[in-house]
Amino acid sequence: MSNKPRILVARAIFPDLLAKLEESYEVRSNQADAILSPEELQHELSGVVGALVAGSERIDANALAKAKDLKIVANISVGYNNFDVPAITAAGVMATNTPDVLTNTTADFGFALLMATARRITESEHWIRAGKWDKWSIVNNPLGMDLHNTTLGIIGMGRIGQGIAKRALGFGMNVIYHNRSRLPEADEKACGARYVSKEELLKTADHVVLVLPYTSENHHTIGAKEIALMKPTATLVNIARGGIVDDAALAQALKEKKIFAAGLDVFEGEPQVHPELLKLQNVVLAPHIASATEKTRRAMVELAMENLRAAIDGRKPPSLINAEVWKA
Ligand code: 8YV
Repeated sequence: MSNKPRILVARAIFPDLLAKLEESYEVRSNQADAILSPEELQHELSGVVGALVAGSERIDANALAKAKDLKIVANISVGYNNFDVPAITAAGVMATNTPDVLTNTTADFGFALLMATARRITESEHWIRAGKWDKWSIVNNPLGMDLHNTTLGIIGMGRIGQGIAKRALGFGMNVIYHNRSRLPEADEKACGARYVSKEELLKTADHVVLVLPYTSENHHTIGAKEIALMKPTATLVNIARGGIVDDAALAQALKEKKIFAAGLDVFEGEPQVHPELLKLQNVVLAPHIASATEKTRRAMVELAMENLRAAIDGRKPPSLINAEVWKA
C-alpha cells in the first residue's frame, strides 16, 4: 500500500492527465466511463481526499454520507447544478467548477448551433442523404431564416452569453438580453447589448439563445406560455441545461410550427431525448457538446486538477464555489 493520498476520478479523462495524477495520488479511476449509480458513488467517495466529477455525478448529502476524508469535489464543468452546494458546505467539503476556460469554445458552438438551426443545415444534409435532391430550386429547397440584421435575444448574460453577443455584432445583429441582474454599462457597451424584460425579449427577438445556469427557480423558464409569445418565424437555441426548457411543450410547438425551429445541445433527462423531438425535422440535435474541443476539454480537466491539488495541499483552489469552507 502506498501512502499517497487517495483520490477518485469519476469519469474517463485524457490518459496523460490521469498518469500525471497517478504520480502524486493513489487514483480510483473510471476509464471505462460507466456512469456510477448513487450507491457506487457513495462507496467510491469513502476514503478519498478529493474527487474529480462531472455533471453525471450528483453530489449531495447521500453521496457524501461516507466521505469522511473528503476535502474537495472538483467539477469538470462550469455549470454545477449537479452539486447540492449547501449539503457540500455542511459536510465541510470544498466545491469547485471550471469557469473561463470554456467560454469561447462554448460561445462558438452556441453561434454554430444558431446558424445550423436558422439555415436548416442538418435538415438539408438529411434531405440529401435521403436522395431527395433531384434539382436546384428557387422555392423548393430548404429555405431558412437570416441572421444578419435580425434581433438576437440572449437569456442569461454571463461570460458565455456575452461571448455570443460579441460574435453577433460581426453579423450586424441587434442584441437584446435578459438576466437576473443588469450588466454594468461598460459590459453592455462591450457587447452592444440592450437589457429588456423576458417578455419583451421573447416577443421581439428573431432568435432566442438560452445560456443561463439551471436552478430550481428557472425550471421550465421556457414552456408553452413563453413559446406562445415568440414570433412564428423565430428560432430557439438551448445550450444551457435540460430542464430550463419544457421539452414536451417545445416539441408540440415545433410540430404545430408555432416557432420556426430549435437547436438543442441539452435535454431534460439526457442522454434520453423526448421521443417527439426525434420525429421532427425543424430541430437540430447535439449531444451536449458545446465545450467539446480537445483543447478545451483538456483545459477543463487541467483546471479541475489544479483545484484538487490546491485543496489537498492546503492552498485555496482557484475556482472555489463555497468560500465559507475555506474561511472555516
Ligand atoms: C460540460 C457544460 O461538458 O461546463 C458545463 O457546464 O455544460 C459542459 O461544458 C458538462 O457539463 C460536463 O458535465
